[in-house]
Amino acid sequence: MPDPISYPLRAEAYTGITKNRGIPGFINDAMPDGWGERLLHRAYGQTLAPIEYLLKSPNNDRIGSLMAGTSPVPPAGLGESPVPSLKGLAKFVEACEAVYDNQLDEEAIRVLNLRQQRSSLGGARPKRTLQDNGMLILAKPRDGRYDEYDFPAIEFACMTFAASKGLSVAHTALHADDPRALLVERFDRTPLADGAKRIPMLSALTLLDSEWDDQYHHDWRYAAVADEMRRRGVPDKDLQELFRRMCYNALVGNGDDHPRNHAVIWIGGRWRLSPMYDVLPILGEGPAQTLAMAVGKEGRKISRANLLSHHAHFALPRDEAQALLEEVAGWADELKAYYGKWLVGADLHMACDAVSSVRMCS
Ligand SMILES: Nc1ncnc2c1ncn2[C@@H]1O[C@H](COP(=O)(O)OP(=O)(O)O)[C@@H](O)[C@H]1O
Ligand SMILES: [Mg+2]
Repeated sequence: MPDPISYPLRAEAYTGITKNRGIPGFINDAMPDGWGERLLHRAYGQTLAPIEYLLKSPNNDRIGSLMAGTSPVPPAGLGESPVPSLKGLAKFVEACEAVYDNQLDEEAIRVLNLRQQRSSLGGARPKRTLQDNGMLILAKPRDGRYDEYDFPAIEFACMTFAASKGLSVAHTALHADDPRALLVERFDRTPLADGAKRIPMLSALTLLDSEWDDQYHHDWRYAAVADEMRRRGVPDKDLQELFRRMCYNALVGNGDDHPRNHAVIWIGGRWRLSPMYDVLPILGEGPAQTLAMAVGKEGRKISRANLLSHHAHFALPRDEAQALLEEVAGWADELKAYYGKWLVGADLHMACDAVSSVRMCS
């Protein structure tokens, strides 16, 4: 059962769903949004209805447990088509550039093999699932034409620094040659040798049963995510990890830490917090002032009192929460030095400038 809390199995149909274009969260998680929708829109040359985004996106790289198709019995081989190796990266980047161009005729779509470059994953940035070293990986290339900054290197530095400090982080590597790309190991698949089986996954947006496309998101709160995780049996140590992750997002200045950038995965017969992914600073705004979700009683504001105010939701006594916050804030100088190993020029300057340890402690 994909979501026994919001959608328990029952005989009656579910009707009157209004959030997220009428799509239940656990199905929405299996669908592309920003980038994936854009590519489908170009590849099929028309605006698609939500159900088409589900049916036309590939089954082999979806998150969660669902496959989508038009017949009750899946055709043989559905969802099993092999994914290309890293050699496919250059072609993908070429296709990305074309997707950003407005007019694509049938011939261009065919030459670029655009329909093979789809992804069911969410998120705004171009991405596609490939395989490397016996695992499925997510490749997020630098967009040569539009990216002002070297986001693959910035995300790589931010993620690997967190891993070096003992946070639970998706394994990442940097494809340093042309095309430059961040490579992230998929934590929701077993190794290819074990069949690259899917590991169930739900986004925090689905845990919160929340709307994605509102102007204000009063129900986006870290403490509420922690509560929903606890309700689904996630162990206390993962709630504590979520607290550390929230502090880390404040430290690096990742104001894009919305509930699709947090998830649970089903491991060892229970839901667990997924490894951290998509954490990098927002550049050009100086030290972060807010996160995307409320961190405490005063909402999204980064401050010591606010970050500590919901400590009990994370299975942390106040003094332990305080010690964790201080530990993470204390990494600021080391983080900046680490950025210096991977970044140069404006990338380095802006990443250092986003660090918000002073606000975290005041
Ligand atoms: N390592 C991973 N394993 C499995 N799923 C992932 C992983 N990283 C990201 N995802 C899924 O893919 C989506 C898009 O990836 P993300 O890195 O957030 O891209 P973007 O920068 O475009 O938001 C995430 O919201 C999540 O559902
Ligand atoms: Mg994301």
